[in-house]
Amino acid sequence: TASPRHGAGGNSENQNHPTEAERETWKEVDVVLKDALGILDELQAYKGAGQEIREAIQNPSDEALQDQAWAAVVPLVGKLKTFYEFSQRLEAALHSLLRALTSETYNDPTQHLEREQALAKQFAEILHFTLRFDELKMTNPAIQNDFSYYRRTLSRMRINNVPAEGENEVNNELANRISLFYADATPMLKSLSDGTTKFVSENKNLPIENTTDVLSTMATVCKVMLETPEYRSRFSSEETFSFCLRVMVGVIILYDYVHPVGAFAKSSKIDMKGCIKVLRDQPPNSVEGLLNALRYTTKHLNDESTTKTIKSMLQ
Ligand SMILES: *[C@@H]1O[C@H](CO)[C@@H](O)[C@H](O)[C@H]1NC(C)=O
Repeated sequence: TASPRHGAGGNSENQNHPTEAERETWKEVDVVLKDALGILDELQAYKGAGQEIREAIQNPSDEALQDQAWAAVVPLVGKLKTFYEFSQRLEAALHSLLRALTSETYNDPTQHLEREQALAKQFAEILHFTLRFDELKMTNPAIQNDFSYYRRTLSRMRINNVPAEGENEVNNELANRISLFYADATPMLKSLSDGTTKFVSENKNLPIENTTDVLSTMATVCKVMLETPEYRSRFSSEETFSFCLRVMVGVIILYDYVHPVGAFAKSSKIDMKGCIKVLRDQPPNSVEGLLNALRYTTKHLNDESTTKTIKSMLQ
C-alpha cells in the first residue's frame, strides 16, 4: 500500500494490516471509520438556514416565507440526524475496540497496543475524528439555531393539526434526543465518554483501571513520540504530527471523564505536565484549540486536587 498517512512510530505496516486475531474487530470498526471523512466534509460545508429562518420570523404572517424556511430546514435536519446517528455508530465501534484492547489475551495495555497496532490506530482515528467534529460544531452556531427552529415549527404544526411534511424524518422523541446531543459543547466527545463509562459499568468484572490504563498508555505513547526528536523526524508530515497532538489531547479528555479522579490528579497515570509542555512547545496558533479543549472541556481541571503548576501552565 501507499505510504500511510499516520505511520509515525511503530511499524506502519502493522498499523494498517490487522493480524488474524484483530481482523474481526478491525473490520467492524473500519466500516464506521470509512464514513467518518464524509461526515467531517458535510459538517464543514454545513451552512445553515439562518437567513430563511430570520425572514420567516420577522414576517410571521407571510406564508410563503414560512414555507421557504421550512423547506430549507428539513433537509438540514436530515443531515443533523445523520451526524447524530453516526455518533451512535462510533460509540459502538469504540465499544468493540475497548473490548479487544482490555481483553485478557495480553497482560497489560502496553502489550495490547504493541500486538494490536491496527486496533490502536483505529482508536486514535476515532479520537481524532471526535476532536475535529467538535471543533467544527463549536464554531457553527447555525446547527442549534436550525434545530430549534425545526422543533418549534414542528410543535406549532402539531398544535394546529397541520400534517407536518418532514416529520417522518425526525419525530418528536428523536428530536428531543438529537437536541440534547447538540446542546452539549462537545457532543461527539460526550458520546464517546458516555460510551466508555457504559462499557466500564457493563463489565463489572473488569476493573475501571484496566480501561483507563489503555487511555493513559496511549497518551504516553503520543507524548513520547511528540517530544522525542528522533521520532519527530520520522513523522511523515505536519499532518501526522497534528494527528498525534490531537489524539493525545483526545485520550486525556476521555481519561478525565471516565476515571473517577480524572487526569489532573497526583495519582493520574498521565504525565499532564509533560503533555501540556509538549503542547506549549508548538507554535501558539497551531495548538490554541487543543489547549482550549483541555481548559474548557475537561471535568477535573478546576478540582482542588489539581496542582497550581498545572493550572498555571494552562492559563
Ligand atoms: C486487569 O489488569 C491487570 C493488570 O494489567 C491484569 O492482571 C488483570 O488480569 C486484568 N483484569 C481483567 C479482568 O482483565
